[in-house]
Amino acid sequence: MIVIVLFILLQVIGLNFGEPVVTEVSERKIPEDGRLNFTELARKYGFRAEEIEVETEDGYLITVFRIRGKKKPVLVVHGMGGSSNTWLLRGKKSLAVALAIEGYDVWCGNVRGNKYGRKHVSLNPDKDDKFWDFSWHEIGLYDWRAIIDRVLKETKESKLNAIGHSQAVTSLLVLLSTKPEYNDKVNLNIALAPVAYLNKIGPGFTQMVKIGPIVFKLLDFLGINELFSENSIEKNLLQLFCTEGYVTKDFCREGIYSWFGDPDGIEAEFFPVIVGQQPAGVSKKILRHYNQVALSGNLAQYDYGVEKNMLLYGTSEPPEYNLSKVTAKMVLLYGENDLVATPTNVEQLASALPNVLYLQAIEKKEWTHTDFTWSKEMDKYLFRHITKLLRKYDW
Ligand SMILES: *[C@@H]1O[C@H](CO)[C@@H](O)[C@H](O)[C@H]1NC(C)=O
Ligand SMILES: *[C@@H]1O[C@H](CO)[C@@H](O)[C@H](O)[C@H]1NC(C)=O
Repeated sequence: MIVIVLFILLQVIGLNFGEPVVTEVSERKIPEDGRLNFTELARKYGFRAEEIEVETEDGYLITVFRIRGKKKPVLVVHGMGGSSNTWLLRGKKSLAVALAIEGYDVWCGNVRGNKYGRKHVSLNPDKDDKFWDFSWHEIGLYDWRAIIDRVLKETKESKLNAIGHSQAVTSLLVLLSTKPEYNDKVNLNIALAPVAYLNKIGPGFTQMVKIGPIVFKLLDFLGINELFSENSIEKNLLQLFCTEGYVTKDFCREGIYSWFGDPDGIEAEFFPVIVGQQPAGVSKKILRHYNQVALSGNLAQYDYGVEKNMLLYGTSEPPEYNLSKVTAKMVLLYGENDLVATPTNVEQLASALPNVLYLQAIEKKEWTHTDFTWSKEMDKYLFRHITKLLRKYDW
């Protein structure tokens, strides 16, 4: 709720501030790693990255990054508001680096709508509302699919390993349940803080879900489809609030961002790097679809209302994703302190999936949602699990 209210506030205030002034102020406080792109970050930490543009079946153009290695391909996909850069945020202690050092062929994906996926063969993201007409359903069905196929084509492999965080898991489940043939193309899925069912979420999020429908109507009214894009007013103001001024900076780290991550895992000096890189752009429909899942209790397709549902699905309610079709090997890693992918939600997911090898809590009680992407202790608590699993289930 706070985030959305803040966002609307920022929209309103932003109109008076004017964009250029804000940009100038906030950039000074964002350290280098908060500003570099994936290729530049990789180079800084000793690796050469390749940039590959992938076109989806429905015309979105997405840049994915590859750090070549001799071992099997591992595709890593970020969560909501993230980007490929998520996997290099911690420099030498980042997941992409850990995998590259192990010798894997590392592919870091992106999804439509973020800063590396804000492009389309015919639609203009700044002008065409249709560009923003997608949720994690389309991310799964088109983006994951196109990227998997591209990785397999380039590497001449028949399958790959997939690591997804949060929304990346939701969307991969969409793909594997609606196009079951893709289960043969993924060897092992390592799901970090997997988001699927949202029946038991933290109290703040429950409040947010309740007022969600009103907030989305308001955003509709304002004609807003995209949130937190790179040069948006709200992103610039967020950066300003979160990097300047002693009070707002701490409020940001301990208030807003700690909803998702253990504040102890984010040092004050490192915090501006995160603020520089994330959020990297998200669509309103993504949030709305999650809101529907939380309200209905079902992991179902997007609810357009009875009339359009009948037209699209042939039923008044949107159909649920059939998770018993997800036959690929799954490992679910979660944080006991996660307020979104709570232990209860993750257990519900595990019991709906037919092929879960491990359901494992990270061995630190405080571990929460985004600690999987930016905790200073990822090397200690997370990477060992991942490298061990990849070795064990190699083919
Ligand atoms: C990343 O930055 C380099 C310049 O350092 C530039 O050549 C490259 O095009 C950038 N890549 C993307 C995907 O923005
Ligand atoms: C879900 O998929 C399983 C396995 O293919 C199938 O047996 C079952 O009938 C499906 N359920 C629904 C509701 O379609």
